[in-house]
Amino acid sequence: MPHPKTAEEMIKCAGPIECELLPQLLHVTESAAIAASYQMGRGEKNYADQVSVESMRRMLNCLDMKGIIKIGEGERDEAPMLFIGEEVGTWEEDVEVDIAVDPLEGTNLAANGLPGAIAVMAMAERGGLFHGPDIYMDKIVVGPQVVKYEKEHPDEIIDLDAPVRHNLEIVAKALNRSIDEIVVVILERERHEEKIKEIREAGARVNLVSDGDLMPGVSTAIRGSGVHMVLGSGGSGEAVLTAAAMKCLGGKILARLVLPSVANGKSAEKIAEERSEKMERLNSMGITEENINDVLDTDNLVPGNDIIFSATGVTSGPILRGVSLFGDGDARVHSITIGSSGVVKFTDTIYIHDKERNALRF
Ligand code: FBP
Repeated sequence: MPHPKTAEEMIKCAGPIECELLPQLLHVTESAAIAASYQMGRGEKNYADQVSVESMRRMLNCLDMKGIIKIGEGERDEAPMLFIGEEVGTWEEDVEVDIAVDPLEGTNLAANGLPGAIAVMAMAERGGLFHGPDIYMDKIVVGPQVVKYEKEHPDEIIDLDAPVRHNLEIVAKALNRSIDEIVVVILERERHEEKIKEIREAGARVNLVSDGDLMPGVSTAIRGSGVHMVLGSGGSGEAVLTAAAMKCLGGKILARLVLPSVANGKSAEKIAEERSEKMERLNSMGITEENINDVLDTDNLVPGNDIIFSATGVTSGPILRGVSLFGDGDARVHSITIGSSGVVKFTDTIYIHDKERNALRF
């Protein structure tokens, strides 16, 4: 019988990005989360976002890499920092990376002191992340047991266009339970009313979230999280970040670009307006009327092989605790970092500035 891989063998198969940049990536999301935490509950989502963006950018610019933002805060003309195409890092070393960032995922959650806000980012080798526009994607996310089930049953495949019941049946069989034991996370939006009805009619349970569909997607790959599937349309950047984590954890995302006006059922006039506004930009990224409706899978969203992912809690959620502030800037933060080697770390970090006043707590 072949012996299971040792920790030593796993660490040896980590790529240069995972070896050299993953420990620093953790500090980048930690610092963004701490910055955001000072703005928690103040009702100012844009300011909370701004301080996390500034902090993340400062930290990224300390890293020895040639980094290019692929998924960021928006286009160059609408985002002053961490815009798509911005170069970050020292550019003194030869490590070339593409970067996806969401310095504050769940701006409303943070501004209102609600659970589930995180600071999150991912990196891959050059060309290793989907280069796409900041619109929506229609998504379905499932964990690694479903991927295994699909390999063993090639006629039973998760399908973005299939009725919800078809996908729920596959997930239930893969997880060896009945549909009424399955939980589907979906954003609470008018555009999802029909889908929510379909999930309930199929017998599964629905966990409605007011914001933040990224961490629930990652949770489908974490046994015991109580999340078995994520459905619905949400940010395209969130889809790429979810894909980075899923590629490392063996789960799966299927996604399709969709204009927010279309997803939100706006008038034909509004749809035409958004289309004419965005299509030129989409074309420049290789997205045309012919391929905009293509279904993208985990590998299309993250074609890279040397992938790293880090998320730090801003407010407490099911997987990550939020930032605790102890005075004088001392803080305790909780993160998950994932590398494509398969090494996953849950990190509980304490930053102590004033060692005499704030002795280390257990
Ligand atoms: P922000 O952090 O940018 O506010 O995004 C939060 C979020 O809920 C995402 O998790 C989700 O993908 C997207 O917004 C959904 O967009 P909308 O609020 O337009 O439905």
